[in-house]
Amino acid sequence: MAEFIPIQPAQAAADTSVAANGADVVARYLRPGMLQLGAPPPLGLYIHLPWCLRKCPYCDFNSHEAASGGHPEAAYLDALRADLEAALPLVWGRSVQSIFIGGGTPSLFSPEGIERLLSDVRALMPLAPGCEVTLEANPGTFERERFRAFRHAGVTRLSIGVQSFDDTKLQALGRVHSRAQALAAAEEAAQAFDTFNLDLMYALPGQTLAEAAEDLRTALALQPPHLSVYHLTIEPNTLFAVHPPVVPDDDLASDMLDQIVDMTGAQGLSRYEVSAFARPGHRCTHNLNYWQFGDYLGIGAGAHTKLSFPHRVVRQVRWREPVMYMQKALAGQAVSNDEEVGRKALPFEFMLNALRLKDGFDLGLFRDRTGLPLSSIETALAQAEQRGLLARDWERAAPTPRGFDFLSDLQGLFLT
Ligand SMILES: C[S@@+](CC[C@H](N)C(=O)[O-])C[C@H]1O[C@@H](n2cnc3c(N)ncnc32)[C@H](O)[C@@H]1O
Ligand code: SF4
Repeated sequence: MAEFIPIQPAQAAADTSVAANGADVVARYLRPGMLQLGAPPPLGLYIHLPWCLRKCPYCDFNSHEAASGGHPEAAYLDALRADLEAALPLVWGRSVQSIFIGGGTPSLFSPEGIERLLSDVRALMPLAPGCEVTLEANPGTFERERFRAFRHAGVTRLSIGVQSFDDTKLQALGRVHSRAQALAAAEEAAQAFDTFNLDLMYALPGQTLAEAAEDLRTALALQPPHLSVYHLTIEPNTLFAVHPPVVPDDDLASDMLDQIVDMTGAQGLSRYEVSAFARPGHRCTHNLNYWQFGDYLGIGAGAHTKLSFPHRVVRQVRWREPVMYMQKALAGQAVSNDEEVGRKALPFEFMLNALRLKDGFDLGLFRDRTGLPLSSIETALAQAEQRGLLARDWERAAPTPRGFDFLSDLQGLFLT
C-alpha cells in the first residue's frame, strides 16, 4: 500500500475552525491537475469502532482492549458525528450506497448506540435506496435479543468473526468465544438477517487438512449466503510475530485452499474474490466497491478514506489512537494525514484491488477510476497476457487461474 504523506504542520496549525479547515481542504482537492476523471464512482461509508473484549495474538487491526469500565460509547459517538459533519463538504451531493461498521468489535456497542450512529448518518447524508448496512460481530458478544436489536437499529447484514468451530483452535487463536457460541451466533444471524457473512481462517496452528475440511463443513451446514476465508498470516507487531505458532507449510495451506474452493463451489457459493465466496445475489456491495476502486469515506479512529475529484484521487487517514482521535474529531481535525495518489502509483493501486476479482474489470472502468488512458497500461497488460497471467478481450481483463494463483506477480507488473 502507498505511504501516507503528513499534512504540512504549518497548514494544520493555520486551520483553526472546522469551516476554514473544510473549505481549505476542498479547494486544495478541487484545484486543476493532470488527471481527467469521469463522474464520481459509487460512495461507501466505513465506520471504525476500535474496541475489543481482548486483543487476539494474530491481529494487527487498530483494535484495543476495552478498559474494565468498558468503552466510552457516548463520547465516541459524539466524535463520529463531528468527524462526519466536518467531512461532508468533500462528498456534497453524493449518496451513500453501503455502510460498513467494522472494528475492533462493533457488536460491543449497544444496539441503542448503533441506532444513534445510523440515525446521525441518515440525518447528515442521503442513503441510496436499499443501502447495505453491515456490522461486524464477535460471537463472544452474542445474545439473541442483542442481535435482533441490531437489525431493528437498521443493520441489514451481519458479519460474524467465527475463525474456527474447533475449540482447541479457538484457544490457540486466543479467541474469547467457544464453538457453541459461534454456532449460536450464526444460527441467530440466519434467523434475524436476510443476509450474513461468516469469517473463517485456515492454516491455523497445528491444523490438518481433515480438520480444515471439518471446520468448513460445519460452516457450510449453517448455509451462509457469504463466506470470507482467510489464510492466517503472521503479522509484524503482533504477539504471534514474537512467539510464532507452528502453522501448516505452504503446500499444505495450498491444498487447504483447493479444498475450500471445491467444497464451497459444491454448495453453490462461488469464489468471486481471493477470499470471498457468495451465493448469487449475496456479494458484499461495500467490499465490491473497494475492489472496483470505488470511493469510500472512512470515519473513526485510524479509518482510511479514498475519494475522487475531477483531477485527482486523494487518500486520508484519521488519528489512530482512540482518545487522541476523539479529541481531534471534536475539534474538527480528525484527519492526521492525507496524500494525493500520484499519477504513477494509480495503475498499481487500481490493479491491487481489481485483480482480486475473479471476473476482473471492464477496461473502461480503469479509465473512469484513474483518469488515465488505457495506453498507460498497455505494455503491462500485454506482458501479463504473454505470461499467461491475464486474459482480455476488447471489453474486459481478468486474471487467468494461474494469474489468480500468482496474484502478486501479476499485480507487480503494473508497478512503475
Ligand atoms: C476486523 S476482524 C472483524 C471481526 C471481529 N473483530 C472478530 O475478530 O470477530 C476481520 C477479520 O479479519 C480476519 N483476520 C484478522 N487478522 C487476521 C490475520 N492475521 N490473518 C488472517 N485473517 C485475519 C479474521 O477472519 C477477522 O474476522
Ligand atoms: S476480536 Fe477481531 S479486531 Fe479484535 S483483536 Fe480479535 S481479530 Fe482483532
